[in-house]
Order: sequence, then structure tokens, then C-alpha cells
Amino acid sequence: MTENRSSFNPEPWIRPNIRTLSPYHAARDDYHEGILLDANENSYGPAIPTDRPLHRYPDTRLDPLRKKWAEFRGIDMEQVFLGVGSDEAIDILMRVFCEPGRDEILTTPPTYGMYKVAARINNVGVSESNLTPEFELDARKVLSRVTQQTKLIILCSPNNPTGNVLSVSEIKRILSGFKRLVVVDEAYIDFSVSGSLSHLMEHYPNLVLLQTLSKSFGMAAVRMGAALAHPSVIKWMLKVKAPYNVNQLTADVAFEAFGHTDRMQEHVRKIILGRNRLSKALARHPDVEKIFPSDANFLLVRFRHAQEWYHRLASRGVIVRYRGDQVHCENTLRITVGTPDENDRLLAELDRKEE
Ligand SMILES: Cc1ncc(COP(=O)(O)O)c(C=O)c1O
Repeated sequence: MTENRSSFNPEPWIRPNIRTLSPYHAARDDYHEGILLDANENSYGPAIPTDRPLHRYPDTRLDPLRKKWAEFRGIDMEQVFLGVGSDEAIDILMRVFCEPGRDEILTTPPTYGMYKVAARINNVGVSESNLTPEFELDARKVLSRVTQQTKLIILCSPNNPTGNVLSVSEIKRILSGFKRLVVVDEAYIDFSVSGSLSHLMEHYPNLVLLQTLSKSFGMAAVRMGAALAHPSVIKWMLKVKAPYNVNQLTADVAFEAFGHTDRMQEHVRKIILGRNRLSKALARHPDVEKIFPSDANFLLVRFRHAQEWYHRLASRGVIVRYRGDQVHCENTLRITVGTPDENDRLLAELDRKEE
């Protein structure tokens, strides 16, 4: 797209009912200090003994947290949308930009299954342009699938379940060739040496990045994700979200997380070491045919008898993910890199002879 960032205007792409929507005006949007008798809260406080003000609705915008996230990725706070995991951001993008029963998204299988599920829930069509058998992105092929109905292209880099980063030059070709939003899901980006594409947002205002605290930050339970995009895209996402989508407990620990990025980096380093070690050990197993290169916290591994191994490992207490039903992923298992003990246990169970 490479148009001037300030002239970028996604307004014509917004669904008409959203464009004319008056968003819910939350109780605390105007005044938030004083005797708070405006929101039908319970002034006696929470039913559980705690010092936390759990009886108050959370902040609707969470600007201090948006600012932290923005600083961490080198962008502005106005470019950050916070959601209940990045799954919420995917859903909201569809609700803002895709007309149910008419529009469609374009994805590149094999990829993360939630894009299709979110589309189906929103009654949005899914068009697919497969990655190559080596899991590479072919921009020309993707762009040839675009129709009048295509409103979002969703890519995933590093890709789940294959683990590889997609070529930046192919992503740029898609950003330039597609006149609407291109979403790149960066859930696993901190495990990759290539780093976030956040620096590209300056030149490609149609780029939307999805990020999460579920992976490198190890905080899947708190359900905190983000969409990073041009402020004029974020503005519409904020209008559509539930006013109190992110709860205060989540917001508090997420804020804290950005004060411990050294700890996050340390865990990432250990996971990458574990990934390399696991990869080498798996390569020696007689039933392992191929280990795909990974920039994520998991390995996609082609096994002889993958399905048998999936069930055998589960019966021995080690749960991995069978991915052999995905295109180009025949006979594969996706194995998350665990702690050294967990990885050793996996290897031991793979080596254990049938009694
Ligand atoms: C590519 C990808 N995106 C997003 C998610 C989910 O992120 P969140 O936990 O923030 O909803 C996952 C989870 O496995 C994923 O693999």
C-alpha cells in the first residue's frame, strides 16, 4: 500500500452499521473521581476478603497498559487495541470489516484454526490459498485469490502449526498488492530472531499485527492480547469492543509483565535452547522422518505412524497435538517445547519399548 500514513483512511471499509454506531457510553467516561454512585456498583466492596477494589468496573481504555505495550514495540499508544487474548482482536476485526453473509477473509493454510472458527461464527466466508509444501508464502498466488468480497488477509508468522517465519518480502508484496487490511499474527514472534514487523506499520498503514501475552510472556491464563494497527483502524475496534472487555486483574498483571521483560527473555532463551536440543534428539528416533525448522516454541515433526504415536504418547502421559489432518502436514505431530524435564520425559516415552 505504501501510501502516506496520515492520508490513510479505512472509513469506507467499515461495515455501514458499524460506521453509524453510537458506542456504549461507559459510566466512568466523563467523571471517575468522587463519591461514585453512577454505575450501580456495590459500595460495601467485594464479597471476598481482599484489598483490591474489585467492586469497581475496570477502566475501559487501559491507556497506561496500551502505552507500555506500545513502548515495548516502538509504536504509539493510539496504535494499540487490547483484547481478551488476541482471539478477541481477530473477532473484532471481522465484526468491523466483514459483512456477514457476504464478505470473506483469506487465509493461508496450514495455519491457526481460530481464523476460520471466528469467521464461521460471524457468518463470514473463508477463502484459502495454501502455503507451498515447504510452508512458504507465495504472494502472487495469494493475491490471485482476492475477490471483491475479500476484506481481510490473515497471515501468521511464525506460523502455527509449521513454526516458520514467513518471508518479509512476500508479506510486503501482499501489503502493497491488497488494498485493504493485511493481518499478521505474531503470537510467537519473540521466539524468532527476525523480530516484530511493527517497524513496517509506518510505511504500510494497512498492516495489522496480532500479539499476545500467552506465549513468550507465559501468561495464557490471564487472557491478554493486542492488535497493533494504524490509529484510524484502532479507533473503530475500540468502538465495537465491549466497554469492559479486559478485567482489572488481567490489566494489572499485564502491566506488571512489562516490568519483567528480562525474565520473559530469559524464558525465551531457555525455550530456544530446549527447542534445539529436542530437535537434535528427535532426529535420532527411528520413527521420525522430518523435523521442520522452527522459529516458535514448538516443533512440527513428521513421524512414521504419527497417529499411533499421538495416542501412545497420551496413554503414557505426554500430550502433544496431532496435525496430520492439515494440508501439507501429513503424519505430523506438533510438540510444544517444555522444560528440560518435560522434554526428557517426552524423549523417554518415545524410546520406551512396548511391554
Ligand atoms: C497463531 C496464534 N495466534 C493466537 C493464538 C491465541 O492467542 P491468545 O491466547 O492471545 O488468544 C494462538 C494460540 O495458540 C496461536 O497459535
